[in-house]
Amino acid sequence: METPVIQKSNVKVEVLPDLEAVCLRAALIFVNSSVNSIAAKKQFVAAISGGSTPRRLYGLLGSEAYRYQVDWQHVQIFWVDERCVPKEDEASNFRTAFDTFVSKVALPDKNIHRIRGEEAPDRAAKDYEEEIRRFFGEGERPRFDLIVLGMGEDGHTASLFPGSKSLEETVRLAIPVYLEEAKKNRITLTLPVLNNADRILFLVTGASKAGVLSEILGDGEKKKVFPAGLIRPAHGAITWLIDHEAAEKLGDYHLR
Ligand code: 6PG
Repeated sequence: METPVIQKSNVKVEVLPDLEAVCLRAALIFVNSSVNSIAAKKQFVAAISGGSTPRRLYGLLGSEAYRYQVDWQHVQIFWVDERCVPKEDEASNFRTAFDTFVSKVALPDKNIHRIRGEEAPDRAAKDYEEEIRRFFGEGERPRFDLIVLGMGEDGHTASLFPGSKSLEETVRLAIPVYLEEAKKNRITLTLPVLNNADRILFLVTGASKAGVLSEILGDGEKKKVFPAGLIRPAHGAITWLIDHEAAEKLGDYHLR
């Protein structure tokens, strides 16, 4: 069966059967983006998220079938966000990526730009911002070739949550965020950085996200309440890879 596709200017939505299909498609996009970027400018700069959805994507990237398709010497890996925990902690986004692919591919240490979750949140955010500025050059707004994002049931993305002050940030590249309910700190890239990417890849699966997703992909004003709905790359494109369950409420209008 052909994949239903919605295409509106710079937004593309692909509806795939399940998590496996979403991650296989994401792996292909990651590989192709890396090949194109490296051919054009000798490097591919990506930022990746945590959460459970992309875990299989990372497993694929580290697998025999995929790892030799990427020229890792020319890849730079950054993180979209991080929990304030040591890098060995099971909750660490660095650890997830390290265990699933970073430790298995020929990615030079100097190309791994992790967020130091073990530091005090303010310090960790400042250090990460400096690392990003050093890499992209002072005065330049960082432009990632590819940013992989997920979306929570409440419409959060990265560690940008609905109603949070962090959504108003216009200057800083990385900021600390305190999650009141969980009483936990995180570090996140800010909207101006995310929205300056060349390409955003959203991975969303599961029925519990269907309602919020239909708001975000719709034309209503309500989408602006959800941080994921504020991701609108100024010069880039967004591809949403979603499974049938998450697409449940999109209806005929969205799927044409
Ligand atoms: C993280 C994230 C976060 C995540 C969403 C979706 O580190 O947790 O970057 O924004 O992408 O919470 O998470 P799931 O994939 O687990 O649903």
